Amino acid sequence: MALRNIRTEDDPVLRTICKPVKEITDKTRALIEDMFETMYAANGVGLAAPQIGIVRQIVVIDDTAGNKLALINPVLTPIGDETAEGPEGCLSLPGYSGIVERPTKVHVDALNENGEEVHFDAEGMFAVICCHEIDHLSGILYKDKAKEYYPNSSEED
Ligand code: NI
Repeated sequence: MALRNIRTEDDPVLRTICKPVKEITDKTRALIEDMFETMYAANGVGLAAPQIGIVRQIVVIDDTAGNKLALINPVLTPIGDETAEGPEGCLSLPGYSGIVERPTKVHVDALNENGEEVHFDAEGMFAVICCHEIDHLSGILYKDKAKEYYPNSSEED
């Protein structure tokens, strides 16, 4: 396993539309392990492949509430019309936070690291993370959707 370099704001890879993964191999699984390791080292709750320069449809999530998973070629569908606004940050936009409106409940269809189909509903923070990470695969950053976007207060506050 290896830590990967997290790409930040001005890197065009973050704006690239990611391609689907055609074949899930040991190489894919090694990449996913690196993504988890890189995410944990940065104290993140999610990481998308383009954030480490890989333009493939892969995200990893650990919401620290029991939802730890890798999603390959994920498709997200909002359930219902209800939305909520909440704070978000991104490892590719260090030092900033924002307020983003997201669907409160979503359905996700994807493949896992073994090539098995996974289908689940997500709510609350887990849903927000799914939306945020899957947006990365379309070159979308949360700041694009944020109603407010601001630097984090200094540690002296
Ligand atoms: Ni992000």
